[in-house]
Amino acid sequence: MKKVSSAVLPVITIDRKGPKSLQRQVCEAFRTAILNGTLRPGQRVPSTRILSAELAISRIPALNAYAQLLAEGYFQSRVGAGTRVSLSLPNQSASSRLGRVHHATHPAGRRGVAKRASACSSIKNPPWRRGWGAFAVGQVGLDQFPFSVWNRLVTLHSRNAGAKSFDYGNPLGSKDLREAIAVYLRTARDVRCEAEQIMIVSGSQQALHISTQVLLDPGDQVWMEEPGYRFARSVFALDSCRVVPVPVDKEGLNVAAGLKRCRKARAALVTPSHQYPLGVTMSASRRLQLLDWAESSGSWILEDDYDSEFRYQSMPISSLQGLDRNSRVLYIGTFSKVLFPSLRLGYIVVPVDLIENFSAVRTAMDIGPPTFYQEVLADFIREGHFSRHLRRMRALYHERQSALIDSIRHELGREFEITGEQAGMHLCLTLKGIRDREVAERAARQNLCLVPLSSSYASGAARQGFILGFGSMTVERIPHAVRKLRNVLRGADSSRIPMTAARLRR
Ligand SMILES: Cc1ncc(COP(=O)(O)O)c(C=O)c1O
Repeated sequence: MKKVSSAVLPVITIDRKGPKSLQRQVCEAFRTAILNGTLRPGQRVPSTRILSAELAISRIPALNAYAQLLAEGYFQSRVGAGTRVSLSLPNQSASSRLGRVHHATHPAGRRGVAKRASACSSIKNPPWRRGWGAFAVGQVGLDQFPFSVWNRLVTLHSRNAGAKSFDYGNPLGSKDLREAIAVYLRTARDVRCEAEQIMIVSGSQQALHISTQVLLDPGDQVWMEEPGYRFARSVFALDSCRVVPVPVDKEGLNVAAGLKRCRKARAALVTPSHQYPLGVTMSASRRLQLLDWAESSGSWILEDDYDSEFRYQSMPISSLQGLDRNSRVLYIGTFSKVLFPSLRLGYIVVPVDLIENFSAVRTAMDIGPPTFYQEVLADFIREGHFSRHLRRMRALYHERQSALIDSIRHELGREFEITGEQAGMHLCLTLKGIRDREVAERAARQNLCLVPLSSSYASGAARQGFILGFGSMTVERIPHAVRKLRNVLRGADSSRIPMTAARLRR
């Protein structure tokens, strides 16, 4: 028989000197808790033995109170299943309850929310990000993930965990994982680093937040690629920094345009290996211009290298950090693409003279990263499973990408510009004459997750198109998804798509 789980004791205040009997006080406390929704239908309540022990009352009033609540229909009880709040009582949905709470406490809307919190609201979940539809960006090929190896390591570590695994750890992260990452970065990504410089974080998002906290003050200006990574923009908003959008062209971030707009910016966030979302690679001359600017102005470069392990037409491009001779670049990496995003593990390569500052800010923020999955991942890398997985996934994603490009060409023709095919797990499709958000909203209803290109722009003049993820799409699924995309585009008001409409109508 399934073991009955122990229930949590609700807040019950006993007044031993008052006129009400103990039995009555217990009854009233439960009734009130049930009627105001603190206790919900079906929720277990503690046994009378536990209740009397916790409230330091004798068992008799507790037994009598429960008998009364059973008789009144507030409780129900079954042998072996314990006592619960009666399932026949009306339950309100969480959303209606939340709505009421919000309305009751904030009739005129909530006041006092900090400006930075409102500024992050652009990160709300738009329709095209909901669900698991085709083309979702950020989803990986889980169908090929080596679950048996991963699960073996998870089991091994949970069985053999010693006291150290349960204690506070180093704010920079576990030594073994930092060493494994340093070896990988030096070898595969040309990053100049020692294990002592690696800080483990919960993904690039936290890496940016910590870096901003250490390096920038509220009001500081930051160059961001335009178009760029929307989630990064919200970190700068959260940290009260001002984003200066700098246009991206075929060579990556246009440094001259950045200098014209704001020479004195304190930092620049770039994705030089595979620009997000357009997918271009930053040219060597732009890299040198950017490093020169950082050196001469004493500014910082945040290099977000999120998916360049998957490079298809050449060897992986060396990191920008590897070119830097003045310790102005902070290199940020993540396991979200190369393994899976819910792992929430990433890293920053911190310049040596900043290690103490990063460590102090990290301690203030959340003490440090959780230990368990760091240990699992360190073994996964050290035992060679990581590099094997990377090799397999590179071939697999290349195959998926080629199938997607072929399907797009076949179904949509050549009037659509495709960029970003050198690397990564997404392509960028630019289209003339449509409104990408409108199309994306319609597509979401048909289970297609089309991220509109325009949503990656901070300013008004945005190119229209879609960011198409293909990481989790099998080759067999791709043609069907592209046909659905074609049908959604066909439904776009043809008066707004003079060039593409004719082609799509054929
Ligand atoms: C540009 C960019 N950077 C970083 C990430 C990964 O973020 P995180 O490590 O927080 O999961 C993504 C994920 O889609 C991305 O597109």
